Amino acid sequence: MRILLYSGKGGVGKTSVAAATGLRLAQLGYRTLVMSVDPAHSLGDSFDLSSQGDAALFHGSTGEPRAIRDKLWIQEVNIQREIKRHWKEISSYVTSALRTTGLNDVEAEEMAIFPGMEELSAMMYVNQYLREKTYDVVVLDCAPTAESLRFISLPTTLDWYMKHVFTLQRRVMKAVRPLLNTLGPIEAPPDSYFGNIQSLFQKIEGIDTVLEDPNVTSVRLVTNAERMVLRETQRAFVYFSLHGLCVDGIIVNRVLPDEVTDSFFDGRRAAQQQILGEIESYFAPVPVSKAPLFQNEVLGEAGLTRLAEQLYRDGADPAKITRTDKAYEFAAGSNGAFEVRVRMPFVQKGEIGLFKKNDELVVEIGTIRRHIGLPTTMSAMTPSKARMERDMLVVELRNTA
Ligand SMILES: Nc1ncnc2c1ncn2[C@@H]1O[C@H](COP(=O)(O)OP(=O)(O)OP(=O)(O)O)[C@@H](O)[C@H]1O
Ligand SMILES: [Mg+2]
Repeated sequence: MRILLYSGKGGVGKTSVAAATGLRLAQLGYRTLVMSVDPAHSLGDSFDLSSQGDAALFHGSTGEPRAIRDKLWIQEVNIQREIKRHWKEISSYVTSALRTTGLNDVEAEEMAIFPGMEELSAMMYVNQYLREKTYDVVVLDCAPTAESLRFISLPTTLDWYMKHVFTLQRRVMKAVRPLLNTLGPIEAPPDSYFGNIQSLFQKIEGIDTVLEDPNVTSVRLVTNAERMVLRETQRAFVYFSLHGLCVDGIIVNRVLPDEVTDSFFDGRRAAQQQILGEIESYFAPVPVSKAPLFQNEVLGEAGLTRLAEQLYRDGADPAKITRTDKAYEFAAGSNGAFEVRVRMPFVQKGEIGLFKKNDELVVEIGTIRRHIGLPTTMSAMTPSKARMERDMLVVELRNTA
């Protein structure tokens, strides 16, 4: 099974691109599921199900995958239902704890939906589909960047939690519960709470390996040719790489087409051209594809087909594995240093120039210059050394303080 994950800043066109991709995959004969991980679902709208009189049916539906055409299913994870299914024990504990703070029942229940629940539920499904081989491709339509980053970091966070906190906490709780219950007002979690966390963990176990396998999972970042959007795309690129995911495509959506000749748009066109150039050089060698701004919203099968034709020319296959190299990797080096490893296959040996600009590391080798966004944990560090290891540039960073 392939997993294609579409992420990007709010409103750039993720849902449209994910839906168009799903449509193309189904037409190519793949059993395809497009799954919305965004709690503000709009997948059904993108396929224009409402005009087919299907919206109520879909939105009020169970959140199960639903066939919308030959080989194509869509699923909008229904969080309320998921809570009933997986989280009951956990959320009822949290709800009762919140009630003691003076919140009413409805408020407490709303609050008990933790951030990340949608993502976690989505991952359980992905894992289940993987095991049961239900689909050939799962296309994930993610929430705006910040949330989808939570999605990918969740498995490691949970893993850590299970290893370091869980066992200890459970043991401690068993010992202190009788005491806590007499002290009130917040009750200690019942043991079933821990049982649930454990079974939940088992449901997502192994998903991190799958997400990090470039032969299974590819991340595609949707962006627009605008400065602020590009910044967020760069940050997302860094974080996905940091979590070991392979970004194998950048999609620039809403590029002004040549037909637009009105001088009103001249400035914007010039700015777009410049930013497009920056996008190509920043993300190289990750391929950049473009889709034009259409006259109308991208809606329904006709609109989505038009978008797919622009994105995947000459019948190109979105599921094809185009890259297995991660753009860069971060690792702990010796003596407290961090290493950033950047693949630079075509670089000639020569003088390596290194400097830092805000939270970017800039590396120059001959005429090639690469900007590497640093994760927050490393942004205060200073580059100390650089060397080439075959086609890999290794930069060492240290805390100077
Ligand atoms: N290339 C395009 N030309 C014209 N309209 C577009 C294009 N791409 C997307 N749209 C329209 O822009 C709107 C937002 O697109 P979409 O819902 O796909 O963005 P999104 O990134 O998923 O948003 P959100 O962050 O809210 O989930 C929709 O009305 C869609 O039809
Ligand atoms: Mg969307």
